Amino acid sequence: MFKIINILIIHLISIIPKSIIKIFAKNYVAGITIREAIKIVRNLNNQNLSATLDILGEHTKRKSECLEITNSYKEILKEINNNNLDCNISIKPSHIGTDINKDFFEKNLQTILDQAIKYNNFVRIDMENSNLTDTSINTYKAMKVKNLGIVLQAYLYRTNNDINKLNAKSNIRLCKGIYNESSNIAIKKPEQINANYLKLLKNAFKKGMYVGIATHDKKLIQQSLSLIKEMKINKNNFEFQMLYGVPMKTAINNLLENNYKVRIYVPFGSNWYDYSIRRIKENPNISKYVIKNFFLK
Ligand code: FDA
Repeated sequence: MFKIINILIIHLISIIPKSIIKIFAKNYVAGITIREAIKIVRNLNNQNLSATLDILGEHTKRKSECLEITNSYKEILKEINNNNLDCNISIKPSHIGTDINKDFFEKNLQTILDQAIKYNNFVRIDMENSNLTDTSINTYKAMKVKNLGIVLQAYLYRTNNDINKLNAKSNIRLCKGIYNESSNIAIKKPEQINANYLKLLKNAFKKGMYVGIATHDKKLIQQSLSLIKEMKINKNNFEFQMLYGVPMKTAINNLLENNYKVRIYVPFGSNWYDYSIRRIKENPNISKYVIKNFFLK
Protein backbone atom coordinates (compact mmCIF):
# COMPACT_ATOMS: atom_id res chain seq x y z
CA MET A 1 0.00 0.00 0.00
CA PHE A 2 2.73 2.50 1.04
CA LYS A 3 4.74 1.41 -2.01
CA ILE A 4 1.88 2.33 -4.37
CA ILE A 5 1.38 5.71 -2.67
CA ASN A 6 5.17 6.31 -2.93
CA ILE A 7 5.14 5.67 -6.69
CA LEU A 8 2.09 7.94 -7.14
CA ILE A 9 3.70 10.79 -5.18
CA ILE A 10 6.98 10.50 -7.10
CA HIS A 11 5.08 10.69 -10.41
CA LEU A 12 2.90 13.59 -9.33
CA ILE A 13 5.61 15.55 -7.55
CA SER A 14 6.00 18.19 -10.28
CA ILE A 15 2.37 19.30 -9.83
CA ILE A 16 2.48 19.43 -6.03
CA PRO A 17 2.38 23.11 -4.96
CA LYS A 18 5.70 24.63 -3.81
CA SER A 19 4.13 25.46 -0.44
CA ILE A 20 3.60 21.75 0.24
CA ILE A 21 7.07 20.76 -1.00
CA LYS A 22 8.40 23.37 1.45
CA ILE A 23 7.02 21.31 4.35
CA PHE A 24 9.23 18.37 3.31
CA ALA A 25 12.13 20.59 2.27
CA LYS A 26 12.54 21.51 5.93
CA ASN A 27 13.81 17.97 6.52
CA TYR A 28 16.63 18.34 4.00
CA VAL A 29 17.43 22.04 3.77
CA ALA A 30 18.74 24.19 6.63
CA GLY A 31 16.68 27.26 5.79
CA ILE A 32 17.28 30.12 3.40
CA THR A 33 19.58 32.52 5.27
CA ILE A 34 23.12 32.11 6.63
CA ARG A 35 21.74 32.77 10.10
CA GLU A 36 19.26 29.85 9.81
CA ALA A 37 22.00 27.54 8.51
CA ILE A 38 24.39 28.53 11.31
CA LYS A 39 21.68 27.67 13.86
CA ILE A 40 21.31 24.16 12.39
CA VAL A 41 25.10 23.69 12.40
CA ARG A 42 25.22 24.68 16.07
CA ASN A 43 22.55 22.05 16.84
CA LEU A 44 24.54 19.42 14.96
CA ASN A 45 27.77 20.38 16.76
CA ASN A 46 25.90 20.04 20.06
CA GLN A 47 25.21 16.44 19.06
CA ASN A 48 28.95 15.85 18.41
CA LEU A 49 28.46 16.06 14.67
CA SER A 50 30.73 18.11 12.40
CA ALA A 51 29.16 19.90 9.46
CA THR A 52 29.85 21.24 5.99
CA LEU A 53 27.73 24.10 4.63
CA ASP A 54 26.68 24.28 1.01
CA ILE A 55 24.80 27.11 -0.67
CA LEU A 56 22.26 25.46 -2.96
CA GLY A 57 22.51 26.25 -6.64
CA GLU A 58 24.48 25.38 -9.75
CA HIS A 59 25.22 26.54 -13.30
CA THR A 60 25.17 30.24 -12.50
CA LYS A 61 25.06 32.13 -15.78
CA ARG A 62 25.69 35.72 -14.64
CA LYS A 63 29.07 36.97 -13.41
CA SER A 64 27.43 39.22 -10.82
CA GLU A 65 25.59 36.26 -9.31
CA CYS A 66 28.80 34.18 -9.15
CA LEU A 67 30.43 37.06 -7.26
CA GLU A 68 27.48 37.26 -4.86
CA ILE A 69 27.80 33.52 -4.11
CA THR A 70 31.56 33.94 -3.65
CA ASN A 71 30.91 36.73 -1.14
CA SER A 72 28.30 34.64 0.67
CA TYR A 73 30.82 31.82 1.09
CA LYS A 74 33.31 34.35 2.52
CA GLU A 75 30.60 35.53 4.91
CA ILE A 76 29.82 31.94 5.95
CA LEU A 77 33.49 31.30 6.77
CA LYS A 78 33.51 34.45 8.90
CA GLU A 79 30.33 33.38 10.72
CA ILE A 80 31.70 29.88 11.31
CA ASN A 81 34.77 31.46 12.87
CA ASN A 82 32.82 34.03 14.93
CA ASN A 83 30.56 31.28 16.28
CA ASN A 84 33.44 28.88 16.88
CA LEU A 85 31.71 26.09 14.95
CA ASP A 86 33.06 22.76 13.76
CA CYS A 87 32.08 23.32 10.15
CA ASN A 88 33.71 23.74 6.75
CA ILE A 89 32.21 24.52 3.33
CA SER A 90 31.40 22.65 0.12
CA ILE A 91 31.16 24.41 -3.25
CA LYS A 92 29.90 23.40 -6.67
CA PRO A 93 32.28 24.75 -9.36
CA SER A 94 29.39 25.69 -11.66
CA HIS A 95 27.88 27.77 -8.87
CA ILE A 96 30.86 30.14 -8.82
CA GLY A 97 31.79 30.45 -12.44
CA THR A 98 32.66 27.43 -14.60
CA ASP A 99 29.75 28.33 -16.93
CA ILE A 100 31.47 31.69 -17.52
CA ASN A 101 35.04 30.38 -17.87
CA LYS A 102 37.68 28.41 -15.95
CA ASP A 103 39.79 31.46 -15.00
CA PHE A 104 36.80 33.21 -13.48
CA PHE A 105 35.89 30.07 -11.51
CA GLU A 106 39.46 29.68 -10.24
CA LYS A 107 39.65 33.34 -9.24
CA ASN A 108 36.44 33.02 -7.21
CA LEU A 109 37.59 29.77 -5.65
CA GLN A 110 40.91 31.38 -4.71
CA THR A 111 39.06 34.30 -3.06
CA ILE A 112 37.07 31.85 -0.94
CA LEU A 113 40.15 29.76 -0.23
CA ASP A 114 42.07 32.84 0.99
CA GLN A 115 39.28 33.49 3.48
CA ALA A 116 39.35 29.80 4.55
CA ILE A 117 43.12 30.00 5.06
CA LYS A 118 42.70 33.21 7.08
CA TYR A 119 40.30 31.39 9.43
CA ASN A 120 42.16 28.08 9.33
CA ASN A 121 39.16 26.42 7.72
CA PHE A 122 38.64 24.07 4.79
CA VAL A 123 36.92 24.16 1.39
CA ARG A 124 35.71 21.11 -0.50
CA ILE A 125 35.04 21.20 -4.23
CA ASP A 126 31.86 19.18 -4.82
CA MET A 127 31.91 17.01 -7.93
CA GLU A 128 29.27 17.71 -10.57
CA ASN A 129 28.60 15.86 -13.83
CA SER A 130 31.39 14.42 -15.97
CA ASN A 131 31.72 17.60 -18.10
CA LEU A 132 33.31 19.18 -15.03
CA THR A 133 35.43 16.30 -13.71
CA ASP A 134 38.67 17.38 -15.43
CA THR A 135 38.21 21.07 -14.57
CA SER A 136 37.52 20.25 -10.91
CA ILE A 137 40.40 17.83 -10.50
CA ASN A 138 42.90 19.99 -12.42
CA THR A 139 41.98 23.06 -10.40
CA TYR A 140 42.30 21.06 -7.20
CA LYS A 141 45.74 19.78 -8.21
CA ALA A 142 46.93 23.24 -9.26
CA MET A 143 45.98 24.91 -5.98
CA LYS A 144 48.11 22.63 -3.81
CA VAL A 145 46.92 23.72 -0.36
CA LYS A 146 45.95 21.57 2.57
CA ASN A 147 42.81 23.66 3.12
CA LEU A 148 41.27 22.32 -0.09
CA GLY A 149 39.61 18.96 -0.83
CA ILE A 150 37.90 17.29 -3.76
CA VAL A 151 35.11 14.75 -4.33
CA LEU A 152 35.55 11.55 -6.34
CA GLN A 153 32.70 9.40 -7.63
CA ALA A 154 32.82 5.61 -7.39
CA TYR A 155 30.57 5.12 -10.43
CA LEU A 156 33.14 6.58 -12.84
CA TYR A 157 35.58 4.13 -14.44
CA ARG A 158 38.28 6.82 -14.40
CA THR A 159 38.31 7.33 -10.62
CA ASN A 160 40.96 4.74 -9.72
CA ASN A 161 43.29 6.40 -12.17
CA ASP A 162 42.45 9.81 -10.68
CA ILE A 163 43.36 8.52 -7.22
CA ASN A 164 46.64 7.15 -8.56
CA LYS A 165 47.51 10.55 -10.03
CA LEU A 166 46.59 12.59 -6.95
CA ASN A 167 49.10 13.61 -4.32
CA ALA A 168 49.24 11.25 -1.32
CA LYS A 169 48.31 14.17 0.97
CA SER A 170 45.04 14.73 -0.87
CA ASN A 171 41.80 15.08 1.03
CA ILE A 172 38.98 13.36 -0.86
CA ARG A 173 35.30 12.75 -0.29
CA LEU A 174 34.36 9.43 -1.84
CA CYS A 175 30.70 9.11 -2.90
CA LYS A 176 28.86 6.82 -5.31
CA GLY A 177 27.94 9.68 -7.68
CA ILE A 178 24.53 11.19 -8.30
CA TYR A 179 24.43 12.27 -11.97
CA ASN A 180 22.99 10.24 -14.83
CA GLU A 181 26.17 9.41 -16.73
CA SER A 182 26.58 7.35 -19.90
CA SER A 183 27.43 3.66 -19.50
CA ASN A 184 30.56 4.37 -21.57
CA ILE A 185 32.09 6.17 -18.62
CA ALA A 186 30.10 5.04 -15.59
CA ILE A 187 29.24 1.79 -13.85
CA LYS A 188 25.48 1.33 -13.76
CA LYS A 189 24.88 -1.71 -11.56
CA PRO A 190 24.56 -0.77 -7.86
CA GLU A 191 26.47 -3.82 -6.60
CA GLN A 192 29.34 -3.08 -9.00
CA ILE A 193 29.43 0.57 -7.87
CA ASN A 194 29.69 -0.67 -4.28
CA ALA A 195 32.51 -3.08 -5.16
CA ASN A 196 34.36 -0.27 -6.92
CA TYR A 197 33.74 2.04 -3.95
CA LEU A 198 35.57 -0.40 -1.65
CA LYS A 199 38.39 -0.87 -4.15
CA LEU A 200 38.83 2.92 -4.41
CA LEU A 201 38.66 3.36 -0.66
CA LYS A 202 41.39 0.76 -0.22
CA ASN A 203 43.57 2.46 -2.83
CA ALA A 204 43.06 5.92 -1.31
CA PHE A 205 43.97 4.61 2.17
CA LYS A 206 46.98 2.77 0.75
CA LYS A 207 48.20 6.06 -0.72
CA GLY A 208 47.74 7.77 2.67
CA MET A 209 44.89 10.09 1.71
CA TYR A 210 42.31 11.54 4.09
CA VAL A 211 38.90 10.16 3.07
CA GLY A 212 35.39 11.42 3.75
CA ILE A 213 33.34 8.24 3.42
CA ALA A 214 30.10 9.74 2.08
CA THR A 215 27.28 7.24 1.98
CA HIS A 216 24.00 6.26 3.66
CA ASP A 217 24.41 2.66 2.52
CA LYS A 218 24.58 0.80 5.82
CA LYS A 219 26.21 -2.29 4.32
CA LEU A 220 28.85 -0.15 2.64
CA ILE A 221 29.50 1.66 5.92
CA GLN A 222 30.05 -1.71 7.64
CA GLN A 223 32.32 -2.90 4.81
CA SER A 224 34.29 0.36 5.03
CA LEU A 225 34.70 -0.15 8.77
CA SER A 226 35.96 -3.71 8.18
CA LEU A 227 38.49 -2.36 5.68
CA ILE A 228 39.58 0.34 8.14
CA LYS A 229 40.17 -2.32 10.82
CA GLU A 230 41.90 -4.69 8.42
CA MET A 231 44.22 -1.92 7.15
CA LYS A 232 44.65 -0.45 10.66
CA ILE A 233 43.76 3.03 9.40
CA ASN A 234 44.18 5.75 12.00
CA LYS A 235 40.97 7.54 13.04
CA ASN A 236 42.57 10.85 12.02
CA ASN A 237 42.65 9.70 8.40
CA PHE A 238 38.94 9.47 7.66
CA GLU A 239 35.47 10.60 8.60
CA PHE A 240 31.96 9.52 7.68
CA GLN A 241 29.74 11.98 5.85
CA MET A 242 25.97 12.04 5.37
CA LEU A 243 23.38 14.42 3.99
CA TYR A 244 21.31 16.52 6.37
CA GLY A 245 17.85 15.04 6.87
CA VAL A 246 18.49 11.50 5.68
CA PRO A 247 17.31 9.34 8.60
CA MET A 248 20.53 7.67 9.75
CA LYS A 249 20.18 8.09 13.53
CA THR A 250 21.08 4.53 14.55
CA ALA A 251 24.05 4.32 12.18
CA ILE A 252 25.30 7.75 13.29
CA ASN A 253 24.98 6.85 16.98
CA ASN A 254 26.90 3.62 16.42
CA LEU A 255 29.69 5.52 14.70
CA LEU A 256 29.83 8.20 17.40
CA GLU A 257 29.84 5.60 20.19
CA ASN A 258 32.93 4.11 18.57
CA ASN A 259 34.54 7.56 18.40
CA TYR A 260 34.38 7.87 14.63
CA LYS A 261 34.01 11.34 13.22
CA VAL A 262 30.73 12.05 11.41
CA ARG A 263 30.14 15.14 9.29
CA ILE A 264 26.73 16.25 8.06
CA TYR A 265 26.43 17.99 4.68
CA VAL A 266 24.06 20.89 5.28
CA PRO A 267 22.62 22.63 2.20
CA PHE A 268 20.71 25.88 2.48
CA GLY A 269 19.65 28.88 0.44
CA SER A 270 16.94 30.21 -1.81
CA ASN A 271 17.49 27.48 -4.44
CA TRP A 272 15.98 24.85 -2.15
CA TYR A 273 13.28 23.53 -4.49
CA ASP A 274 15.16 21.27 -6.99
CA TYR A 275 17.41 19.83 -4.29
CA SER A 276 14.43 18.99 -2.09
CA ILE A 277 12.58 17.28 -4.95
CA ARG A 278 15.65 15.08 -5.55
CA ARG A 279 15.90 14.11 -1.87
CA ILE A 280 12.15 13.48 -1.58
CA LYS A 281 12.21 11.18 -4.62
CA GLU A 282 15.02 9.16 -3.04
CA ASN A 283 13.18 8.77 0.24
CA PRO A 284 11.52 5.34 0.52
CA ASN A 285 9.32 6.60 3.39
CA ILE A 286 7.88 9.52 1.50
CA SER A 287 4.25 8.34 1.72
CA LYS A 288 4.54 7.91 5.49
CA TYR A 289 5.78 11.51 5.80
CA VAL A 290 2.94 12.75 3.57
CA ILE A 291 0.32 10.97 5.64
CA LYS A 292 1.88 12.16 8.89
CA ASN A 293 2.02 15.75 7.66
CA PHE A 294 -1.51 15.86 6.35
CA PHE A 295 -3.47 13.79 8.83
CA LEU A 296 -1.57 13.83 12.08
CA LYS A 297 -0.99 17.59 12.39
P1 FDA B 1 22.21 4.47 -1.81
O1 FDA B 1 21.66 5.34 -2.88
O2 FDA B 1 22.35 3.02 -2.08
O3 FDA B 1 21.34 4.71 -0.53
C1 FDA B 1 21.59 3.97 0.66
C2 FDA B 1 20.38 4.04 1.54
O4 FDA B 1 20.14 5.38 1.95
C3 FDA B 1 19.12 3.53 0.84
O5 FDA B 1 18.46 2.64 1.68
C4 FDA B 1 18.31 4.78 0.64
O6 FDA B 1 16.95 4.51 0.79
C5 FDA B 1 18.80 5.70 1.74
N1 FDA B 1 18.65 7.06 1.28
C6 FDA B 1 19.37 7.69 0.35
N2 FDA B 1 18.89 8.94 0.17
C7 FDA B 1 17.84 9.07 1.01
C8 FDA B 1 16.89 10.11 1.33
N3 FDA B 1 16.92 11.27 0.71
N4 FDA B 1 15.96 9.90 2.29
C9 FDA B 1 15.92 8.73 2.94
N5 FDA B 1 16.75 7.71 2.68
C10 FDA B 1 17.69 7.88 1.74
N6 FDA B 1 27.32 13.02 -5.34
C11 FDA B 1 28.01 13.61 -6.34
O7 FDA B 1 27.90 13.19 -7.50
N7 FDA B 1 28.84 14.66 -6.07
C12 FDA B 1 29.04 15.14 -4.80
O8 FDA B 1 29.79 16.08 -4.60
C13 FDA B 1 28.32 14.50 -3.75
N8 FDA B 1 28.45 14.91 -2.45
C14 FDA B 1 27.88 14.18 -1.43
C15 FDA B 1 28.12 14.49 -0.10
C16 FDA B 1 27.64 13.69 0.91
C17 FDA B 1 27.95 14.01 2.34
C18 FDA B 1 26.84 12.54 0.60
C19 FDA B 1 26.31 11.65 1.66
C20 FDA B 1 26.54 12.27 -0.71
C21 FDA B 1 27.04 13.07 -1.74
N9 FDA B 1 26.76 12.79 -3.07
C22 FDA B 1 27.45 13.44 -4.06
C23 FDA B 1 25.64 11.89 -3.42
C24 FDA B 1 26.11 10.47 -3.60
O9 FDA B 1 26.90 10.37 -4.76
C25 FDA B 1 24.92 9.50 -3.71
O10 FDA B 1 24.18 9.77 -4.85
C26 FDA B 1 23.95 9.53 -2.55
O11 FDA B 1 24.65 9.63 -1.34
C27 FDA B 1 23.13 8.23 -2.50
O12 FDA B 1 23.97 7.14 -2.42
P2 FDA B 1 24.29 6.33 -1.08
O13 FDA B 1 25.76 6.14 -1.02
O14 FDA B 1 23.70 7.01 0.09
O15 FDA B 1 23.67 4.92 -1.34
